[in-house]
Amino acid sequence: MRELITKSFLEIFAQEPIHAFAPGRINLIGEHTDYQEGFVFPAAVAQGIYFGIQKNNSNSARIHSFDFNEDFRFDVKSFSPRKGHWGNYIMGMVSQLNQAGYEIEGFDMVFGGNIPVGSGLSSSAALSVGVGTSISGLFDLDIPKKSLALYAQKSENLFEGLNCGIMDPYASAFGKADHALLLDCRSNSHEEVPISLGQYSLLLVNTNVKHKLADSAYNKRRSACEESVDILSSTFTGIKTLRDIAEADLPKVKSILPKELFSKAKHVILEDVRVHQAGESLRSGELGKFGELMKASHKSLSQDYEVSCEELDFLAKESWKKKYVLGSRMMGGGFGGCTINLLENNHILEFKKSIATSYLAAFNIEPDFIEVKPSDGARLVK
Ligand code: GLA
Repeated sequence: MRELITKSFLEIFAQEPIHAFAPGRINLIGEHTDYQEGFVFPAAVAQGIYFGIQKNNSNSARIHSFDFNEDFRFDVKSFSPRKGHWGNYIMGMVSQLNQAGYEIEGFDMVFGGNIPVGSGLSSSAALSVGVGTSISGLFDLDIPKKSLALYAQKSENLFEGLNCGIMDPYASAFGKADHALLLDCRSNSHEEVPISLGQYSLLLVNTNVKHKLADSAYNKRRSACEESVDILSSTFTGIKTLRDIAEADLPKVKSILPKELFSKAKHVILEDVRVHQAGESLRSGELGKFGELMKASHKSLSQDYEVSCEELDFLAKESWKKKYVLGSRMMGGGFGGCTINLLENNHILEFKKSIATSYLAAFNIEPDFIEVKPSDGARLVK
């Protein structure tokens, strides 16, 4: 990919670029908790986006998307959002960098990668973090990773109108090979947990669907959590987010919140507990226990938080039936995208065949299988 980017850059812009790479991410467990200052457990993956970038001594950014074979231009000092277009993520990051006081001049960029769009591997975070990393390198700005992650999150909030949390860009920025990041979304700091799976592997199954309501439902769930916090704060004084509510307080929470809000709050409160348990089980090599937590997470996301869909539920349930699968659950925002599965290496082929057949029969859609491995985060590439 890097060679293809260089070649394309030379053809279009007739000079040598510098290079950067930013990965997509998986999440082991801890879904829909980041925007309530809770805990998540993501890892960067090997799949990602490569960038070639160089100064062009003007005020224009001239961008070429290798994958879409499409160009996009904007003035680096004055531009406005263009929701739904890939160029929006680039403008969003430049806007954040401008606001933070970094001097950004005109640049040329070619980018392309191997993250299936819509799979839930967060190609948007990889794009944003990669743009930040390459601009930081090009103009010698030395922007801290944490700032890049925060700018990427804010850019998506403001430019795309998706009120996402910090997890995706944070994982893309801080990923470490063979480790997952136990991330505290209040302090925005993490602990690296070694992931050694022995005879097991992580495998994603892509439903290849993305239901339309995904973004609006996401924002609604976030608002529901905020509403719960508002209601609860008269009893639980001093709470800021659902992260501040302990599992032992659930009966009391239940007696206060309307039913609809309670089931959502319950998911967030218990999912935080599961993240800590998952951290312990992975540290002590208890993969079976970790698999059980994945299953509990899925059930909670599906029944209580209501962000799953028929296709994801089908894939998770089919996988739970198989003895060689330790765990399976929907991953990411929901309403489509992938399930993440922990299964025995020597049954992978059998699993793929069986799932492909049953999923095709049920939905008339071929699923895709994506092999993933915890990998290093965003970086300049020599
Ligand atoms: C999306 C968002 C993240 C996170 C997950 C759900 O991936 O971008 O911030 O909220 O959904 O865990």
